Amino acid sequence: MSLGMTRGFFITFEGLDGSGKSTQLRKLADWLKSEHGDRIVITRQPGGTEVGNRIRELLLDSRTQIAPRAELGLMFSDRAQCIAEVIAPALAEGKIVVCDRFTDSTEAYQGGGRELGSDVVLELHKAICGGLQPDLTLLLLPDFARSLERARRRNGRKAGRGPDENRFEREDEAFFRRVFDKFCEIARREPSRVVVIDGDQDIQQIHDRIVEIVKDRLKGHFHPR
Ligand code: TMP
Repeated sequence: MSLGMTRGFFITFEGLDGSGKSTQLRKLADWLKSEHGDRIVITRQPGGTEVGNRIRELLLDSRTQIAPRAELGLMFSDRAQCIAEVIAPALAEGKIVVCDRFTDSTEAYQGGGRELGSDVVLELHKAICGGLQPDLTLLLLPDFARSLERARRRNGRKAGRGPDENRFEREDEAFFRRVFDKFCEIARREPSRVVVIDGDQDIQQIHDRIVEIVKDRLKGHFHPR
């Protein structure tokens, strides 16, 4: 963590669409709230602020045509707003912040999926996010074919209901394969920050494993041995 915020703890969740990430985030948030009460702040990207939710609508609506670099810029605009409004103040107050996706998603989707490469993403991250890094990233990684199938099924069920958030989910298999490979590359590059969670176990088993990891990291952070 940088930006002079040394008191709080910053957790991010990452994974492909259909990886079970949102279910696990909700379950961890419930557990954290029962243990740490109002010390927990939950947010997401894109979204999480009023400006961010408007950017999210634009980014995820399948009727929007966005050039890859414009998409990259919007992801970082959203993130900058979320950091300024939610994450930085919460960490400065010593809170535990849980964020659904962060810069690893940009590296995987725009860097990998859209083939813009990692360098531009990491440079923008440094310039725009001041190098803010999560203390812990939980990367949900079920078998590639299974998450793709789950994302497609969910997409079909949602068709015509609620806001249109399908722009990414309509991408082809080769796109998601590049996203998946980039997530794996990030995990190999930063093994102490990124913990890969085998997403093929049942929901409770995955949750128990996540709680174990989070408990251990929080203990090390707030009560260094
Ligand atoms: P969500 O459904 O998990 O909230 O994610 C919304 C979509 O946005 C998902 O398909 C991944 C995509 N995304 C990017 O392409 N780049 C990013 O930086 C982020 C945060 C999300």
